[in-house]
Amino acid sequence: MSTLLRHAADPLVVDLGYGASGVTTVELAHRLRAVHPRVRVLGLELDPERVAAARPLAEPPWLDFRQGGFELAGTAPIVVRAFNVLRQYAEEDVAGAWKLILGQVAPGGLLVEGTCDEIGRLSSWITLSADGPLSLTVSYHLRTLDRPSTVAERLPKSLIHHNVPGEPVHEFLSLLDSYWLAAAPHQAFGVRFRWLRMVEQVRARGWPVLDGPRRWRLGELTVPWHTVAPA
Ligand SMILES: C[S@@+](CC[C@H](N)C(=O)[O-])C[C@H]1O[C@@H](n2cnc3c(N)ncnc32)[C@H](O)[C@@H]1O
Repeated sequence: MSTLLRHAADPLVVDLGYGASGVTTVELAHRLRAVHPRVRVLGLELDPERVAAARPLAEPPWLDFRQGGFELAGTAPIVVRAFNVLRQYAEEDVAGAWKLILGQVAPGGLLVEGTCDEIGRLSSWITLSADGPLSLTVSYHLRTLDRPSTVAERLPKSLIHHNVPGEPVHEFLSLLDSYWLAAAPHQAFGVRFRWLRMVEQVRARGWPVLDGPRRWRLGELTVPWHTVAPA
């Protein structure tokens, strides 16, 4: 992500459908700015009242709020974050929404479309380029993690109805559960150690887990889209 922002002619990031309050957009903006000082963040909302409510939080020109939807208000961001937005739509609307958004992003840009629980302890997202979905990430607050398949209820819309036996995403979550259980003795060394042991086992089983220990240690695990795409 930081490489993408660093090399972008215009490092604009859109937080699409930021919701009742703009505070998460503000937090996102400050975190990104710490990594890349030229970044600009734009919060877009369909709901004009939510735009009006967030405006006092704007810090133009680098952080702003406007009304807009999947057409991204005519902007061409390098990254679009859309969290807990498509879950309100029907599964058959997802491909069209992805297409509209990706038709607007700057060349080489990405869409991060995901879902999380209210306090951010369970999260999952799909990363997409103009060529389509690239990967699925599941992410957990490890100290409160019961078992990895609890993310099932927070899967992106395009996967949530496919978490049934015979579907790849179900196989994936079941596998994580069984290795998580098997790694229980490692919890004595800390939950992070247990998680890393689980990741090691998933990789040993031949799953092409992406990224590396720096991300895995955060309680994240990313796999290529083709390994979990609906059958
Ligand atoms: C549940 S809130 C999500 C808020 C925030 N992103 C979060 O994760 O907490 C969903 C928001 O998406 C907005 N929304 C729905 N469809 C949208 C669209 N096509 N474009 C922009 N915003 C949209 C709604 O107005 C609502 O405020």
